[in-house]
Amino acid sequence: MQTGNGQYYPSYLQLEKILDAQTPLSFAEGQTPAHDEMLFIIIHQAYELWFKQILFELEFVKKVFSKEKVDDNSEDLNLCRHRLQRVVRILELLNQQITVLNTMTPLDFLEFRNLLTPASGFQSKQFRLIEATLGLQMEKRHQHDYYKRTNEGGFTQNDFQQIESAEHTQSILQLVNQWLERMPFFDEKFWNNYQPLNNDKKVPHAFWNDYRSLYEMSLAEKELHKLKDFDNQFLGLSAEQVIGDKTNNGMSDAAMRGALFIMLYRDFPVFQTSFQILDTLIEIDHWLSGWRHKHYVMVRRMIGMRVGTGNTTGAGYLDGAVQQHYIFKELASLSTYLIERRKLPKLPEELVRALGFVS
Ligand code: HEM
Repeated sequence: MQTGNGQYYPSYLQLEKILDAQTPLSFAEGQTPAHDEMLFIIIHQAYELWFKQILFELEFVKKVFSKEKVDDNSEDLNLCRHRLQRVVRILELLNQQITVLNTMTPLDFLEFRNLLTPASGFQSKQFRLIEATLGLQMEKRHQHDYYKRTNEGGFTQNDFQQIESAEHTQSILQLVNQWLERMPFFDEKFWNNYQPLNNDKKVPHAFWNDYRSLYEMSLAEKELHKLKDFDNQFLGLSAEQVIGDKTNNGMSDAAMRGALFIMLYRDFPVFQTSFQILDTLIEIDHWLSGWRHKHYVMVRRMIGMRVGTGNTTGAGYLDGAVQQHYIFKELASLSTYLIERRKLPKLPEELVRALGFVS
């Protein structure tokens, strides 16, 4: 509906639909109204609206990274950075929102909790789509055998199909992995005039041979086993040879080399956007796991160790998910492999020129 020639605020926003969508079950005839059920509904709805915006931003990012060639100096990449940073700000807000929910006490909740069964946030399709779009893999989930089901407390067939199909399309983690693999930094043609620091060749590429020995020198005696992790994460040596923590979530050693190189030389302007994208993905994981933790603590306060309405073990399940559901853990692990800036090998002129560092 319009007033005069322009739009009318309530109709543009379809407020009639949105504001007519809160129906507390305890307010129905024959029930005892539970005051806090209104808050419970509104807070979930607010979350779901923000989830929708997050998915909208992530779909854009996926579209850009699905292109065969992503220009590192392009507007597209800058927009991805900007929109991923928006996702971070939204997640920050979603973390804060738990404090509003916490104004409801366990006794307030108990007044209407039984009416909800077996509905649960566990059935939030949009939350599962966010996880799948980012790249949380089914087999990496805590108790994955029971999270995605269509029996009581699970999903409808239709929601189940949609989640299933999101899990089978390329995730942001996979697309970023491919983008990093395509980085041309290590082409031989850029390194012909490179002056190696170390002539004892343990690794074919001169840069990585140098970096490996600089990294080894940076390790304290009790950290020396980290060199094996380095060999595994970046040089592709087999996992059996590794004694440390192998946190592989699907990133290849070529992609890890690209990511580490960007992290190391991020002060060069051409790497700024790529660096910020990687850093923002790590931040998304940070805020998501922050939310999981706050939600877990809130659930413990609210229902103690009782089972959830969605039929999981409740707090026990949520604690496992906090520990296990990191998505960009390999990117976060890059800080284990950094060395001091002043010790970094000087890049060869050819590479510097090709990357447009100097005119
Ligand atoms: C009184 C408040 C709440 C309680 C007691 C509660 C309880 C639980 C419990 C016990 C679970 C585990 C599944 C189950 O067995 O039900 C769960 C999962 C979940 N809840 Fe809540 N919840 C509350 C509020 C919220 C809110 C406001 C949201 C926002 C959307 C939310 C979103 C979720 C999501 C997404 C999951 C799945 C988490 C995962 O699998 O990692 N919950 N909740």
